[in-house]
Amino acid sequence: MARPFLPLVLLAIIASNAGLAEAAWWDWHGWRHVFRGRYRRAPPQLSSILTEKLYGAMFLHKDDAACPAKGFYSYAAFLRAAARFPGFGASAGHDDADTRRREVAAFLAQISQETTGGWATAPDGPYSWGLCFKEELNPPSSYCDAAAATNTQWACAANKSYHGRGPMQLSWNYNYGPAGEALGFDGLGSPETVAEDPVVAFETALWFWMTPRPPKPSCHDVMAGLYVPDERDAAANRTAGFGLTTNIINGGIECNGGDARADGRVGFYRRYGRILGVRDLGPNLDCAHQLPY
Ligand SMILES: *[C@@H]1O[C@H](CO)[C@@H](O)[C@H](O)[C@H]1NC(C)=O
Ligand SMILES: *[C@@H]1O[C@H](CO)[C@@H](O)[C@H](O)[C@H]1NC(C)=O
Repeated sequence: MARPFLPLVLLAIIASNAGLAEAAWWDWHGWRHVFRGRYRRAPPQLSSILTEKLYGAMFLHKDDAACPAKGFYSYAAFLRAAARFPGFGASAGHDDADTRRREVAAFLAQISQETTGGWATAPDGPYSWGLCFKEELNPPSSYCDAAAATNTQWACAANKSYHGRGPMQLSWNYNYGPAGEALGFDGLGSPETVAEDPVVAFETALWFWMTPRPPKPSCHDVMAGLYVPDERDAAANRTAGFGLTTNIINGGIECNGGDARADGRVGFYRRYGRILGVRDLGPNLDCAHQLPY
């Protein structure tokens, strides 16, 4: 397995890292006000939907020797992180079991595409290789956005790199800063934490998932049925469905036309939906006919 694995893995990481570039335009103004102090409380209800056994069935290879994240993304770490986001898979308006399962499947699918070590003919299929990576390999830069840095709010620390780390491949100073502030770690001074502490790693991914970035809604609102498209959204076909979460995460690169990465996200979503017993995956699985934000 080792032989075919490495070159394909490199291709996979190049493909998934391409998505980081889009973060350049994410609006970092005012995030501080949106997130500060949220997500502190906890009753975790997730384990009733996602048992440890099902988690293991999804991520068949995450602890393989070939995966750089071997041993990192434990079920316990995921539950601990999710305990800080009680709305995840459980908020008002989507208390029915199918909607809750759909959101969990969608989240796990998106982080799987971001961290996949799979390839077309991989053992157990390409969608059994999520959570194989925890850190971007060979980052092309330190992802210090000059405009955000000179504005001082999210100034880059000396010799620190804000390349992709964790399940959602958090990247750029203007994401590490707000994530650290919302979650209580030093995002700008200690970005390494995201690839060293699995609970923080999952927290950054859930924080990204739960947080709206106007004009983008949160992925959570989309999957929970809380999203209401405005006129511009309607004209851009940005209606609710799994495809819209892809648009939110990496639409500038993957939407409005066919894209293998966007297809990969759907592949993971279908597989996880089956594992979780989702009856209806919902409409608009892809974003090929949506305009990006
Ligand atoms: C940054 O790294 C360079 C080269 O390794 C080193 O010379 C410099 O002292 C470092 N600066 C800080 C503030 O750590
Ligand atoms: C919206 O979707 C329809 C049907 O798939 C398509 O014909 C149309 O071009 C799409 N609009 C945009 C703005 O992409």
